[in-house]
This record gives sequence, structure tokens and C-alpha cells, in this order.
Amino acid sequence: MTKPQTWSDRFESALHPAIARFNASIGFDIELIEYDLTGSIAHAKMLAHTGIIASNEAESIVAGLEQIRSEYRKGEFNPGIDAEDVHFAVERRLTELIGAAGKKLHTARSRNDQVGTDIRLYLRDQIRQIQGRIREFQQVLVNLAEKHLETPIPGYTHLQRAQPVSLAHHLLAYFQMCDRDWQRLDDVYKRTNISPLGCGALAGTTFPIDRHYSADLLDFADVYGNSLDGVSDRDFAIEFLAAASIIMVHLTRLSEELILWSSEEFRFITLKDSCATGSSIMPQKKNPDVPELIRGKSGRVFGHLQGLLTIMKGLPLAYNKDLQEDKEGLFDTVKTIQGCLEAMTVLLSEGIEFQQTRLAAAVAEDFSNATDVADYLAAKGVPFREAYNLVGKVVKTSLAAGKLLKDLTLDEWQQLHPKFEQDIYDAIAPTQVISARNSYGGTGFEQVRQALSQAKAILADR
Ligand code: ARG
Repeated sequence: MTKPQTWSDRFESALHPAIARFNASIGFDIELIEYDLTGSIAHAKMLAHTGIIASNEAESIVAGLEQIRSEYRKGEFNPGIDAEDVHFAVERRLTELIGAAGKKLHTARSRNDQVGTDIRLYLRDQIRQIQGRIREFQQVLVNLAEKHLETPIPGYTHLQRAQPVSLAHHLLAYFQMCDRDWQRLDDVYKRTNISPLGCGALAGTTFPIDRHYSADLLDFADVYGNSLDGVSDRDFAIEFLAAASIIMVHLTRLSEELILWSSEEFRFITLKDSCATGSSIMPQKKNPDVPELIRGKSGRVFGHLQGLLTIMKGLPLAYNKDLQEDKEGLFDTVKTIQGCLEAMTVLLSEGIEFQQTRLAAAVAEDFSNATDVADYLAAKGVPFREAYNLVGKVVKTSLAAGKLLKDLTLDEWQQLHPKFEQDIYDAIAPTQVISARNSYGGTGFEQVRQALSQAKAILADR
């Protein structure tokens, strides 16, 4: 047990143990350790480069920091509450390892610009990893779309059958959403990739540092131009949480559809045993836990966005300890997003099977070809609104007679309007209904084929 230390010689007594526990962030900011070491190595090299410390001192600091990295990787570096945070833990261990030179590492730096550097390095890494996962998920969507280009599926508005679409078209809608997610992260990356190192506690430093030198070593694209802003900006983290929230929104929409589709009421997909679970009491059940969990996990991600917005609201310049609260939500969001993307990728690639017979029957059993009847007449010169009203009546009488549009005889059609001819039957067949929507971005098979090759080109370009 180490003897309780005072904060500095300004302090008479040590922290109350409850306050020490309350104040400490080591329990979660240890997650940043590799980034902290990397940031400190760059800082030490900069100090030597500018002549603020001797180069042999910098060399021993760098060697000490690398040793801490290897201790950590071997599970041998486990600082406790008494270290307060990861930054102190590293500095203390460094001084144990290399002696006096270790005490020089913190020259011309504060924990404020240090922690800001760490979380940017961390987030930069995580953004790239999440982008990679998005691409993997998009690849699975493309594979499925390719397989189901000509599989029809009912299309809905208001969750009412509207018009049938190509299943590939439906899947590629998610591809597009994911692509915006990917680009949004790319954009967040730009504002994350700016170095606050050298902003000091808030006002810069009296030492002749070279901020661009350390920024270059850390591959930052730029440095903050205002030290107060540099140490207190968390906009990039808010932006990341917002981008993550939108990713979750997209994943929950797909989840909801998969849950509906797997129900007895829809039966559009079946869940494979590897990705579904049973009930502890109802032996017949197979539950869509994966999409349900993803839908549920959106709550924590949206919550973390609200959390950070609230932390930042009204915060006076510059650093305030409130900022220590930025981390857990960020870390949890990163893990949640990674986990959800991975699970959804596995689910779509091997956990579901589309029920093609059922889908083909579904698009033939309703009035989702009614628009096509109106379009048929409109193409023959009948004003669309007139045609629309006429078809409304046809639907009404057919419903009453328990018939579908395809069951009407040519005679019946012609009584409704003399412009109907034999080709009306082709015009209302589901495959024709889909392929006829050949407008750019529509569900016509030709369009979807083009959209699919554009999607493949995006993935090939990664
Ligand atoms: N653990 C702190 C954090 O996460 C590090 C910065 C502390 N700075 C300070 N002035 N107390 O924000």
C-alpha cells in the first residue's frame, strides 16, 4: 500500500479516499494508454528537436515509454486509483523506470492538451475501423442484392402495401444509407485530425515549442490556431456521436424490417439457427434477438450524444473537469457501433434466408398494381386524375366481389373504359409492374442493375 500522497506541496493533506475515487478516471481512461504513449513520444521528440531537453534525455524517455507499452501489452501495467488518471500513471511509471529524465516529459505541456491529443488519436483510429466495418456490411448488401435482383418484394408506404419492388432495390437503399454514414465519418475525421498538443493548460507555453513538429510526428493534418479552443473543443466528439447515432438509426430501421419479415404474419424471411434463439418456455419459438438487440442498443448511443451535448452546454472556456465525462460515452459508443455492425453483417450474410415463393405470392395477392392500371390509361391519353378515380372504383367493386385486378375479364375491363385492351394483363403482372419503373433511381430491373454496378464500383474503390 503506497502512502497517501498530497497533490503537490501546496496541499497540506491527501485527498479523502471517497473523493480520490470520485475524481479518478483511471478506471476508464486506461483505454487511451497506447495513444497517450504515442502522444508523449512525439512530445518528447519535439522537446529534444527544439533544444528544450537534451536528446539523450528524449531517447531515454522514448525507451521508457515503449517499455511501458510492452508492460501494458503483457498485462503487467495495472495502475490503481492512486494514479488518478492514465496520464499520471504513465508519468509515474516512467520516472520509476528512467529516473530524473522522466520528470522532464511534462515540460511545456498540460494534461489538458495531453488528454485532448489522446482522444483525438483514439477517435481517429476508431473512425477508420468503423468505416472498414461499414464497407464489409455494404459488401454483404451487394452480395444479397446481386442474388435477388429479380426477386420481388412488396413495397410499403404507411406500412400498407403500395407497389412491388425488386428486393435488390430495397437492399441497395441500405447500401446508400451506409454510404452516407461512411462519408459522414470521413468528414468527422477531418475535424478530429487536428492537434491541440502545445496549447498547454489553456494559454500556450513560455517554451519555444514547435507544435507543427509534434503534429507531423502524429500525422495530424493541422494544429489548433487558438489554445483556449484547442483544450476545450469537443465538437469533433459530438459530431462523431451524431454520426454514430445516424448509423444506429439506419441499423434499427433494417432491424425492424427483419423482425417484421421473420414474423408469422409476413414470413418473408426465415432465421437460421446460428443467428436466432429460442424461448425458455415456448418450445416452438425462434426469436430475432440480433435485430432486437441492435434496435435496443440505439438507446445508449442516442443517450451518449445527449450526454455530451449537455456536458458542453454553457461550459465556460477553457478546460473544466466536466470534460473528463466525455470519455465513457464515447468509448461505449465506439464499442456498440462496432458490435452492431459486426452482428448485422453476420446476420445478413449467413443468418437469414429470403422466402422466394412466399415473396412471389405476396406481390400477386393484392392491389399493389393499381397505379399501373391508372398509368396504363394515362399513357393512352386519359388524364391521370380521371384514370385514378376510375381505378379507385375498380378496386372497390373488385374488393366487394372478392377478386383481384388480374381476375377481371377483358369484357369487364372494357366496360370500365374502352381504352383497355388485352395487354392490360401484362401491364399488371408483378414482374412487369416492377420492370416498368425504369426511371432513374427507380426499381425497374435495368435501373437496379445499374445501381448495383455503381455500388460495386464504390466498394472496389475503397
Ligand atoms: N483525467 C482528465 C480528463 O480526462 C485529464 C485532464 C485533467 N486536467 C485537469 N486540469 N485536471 O479530462
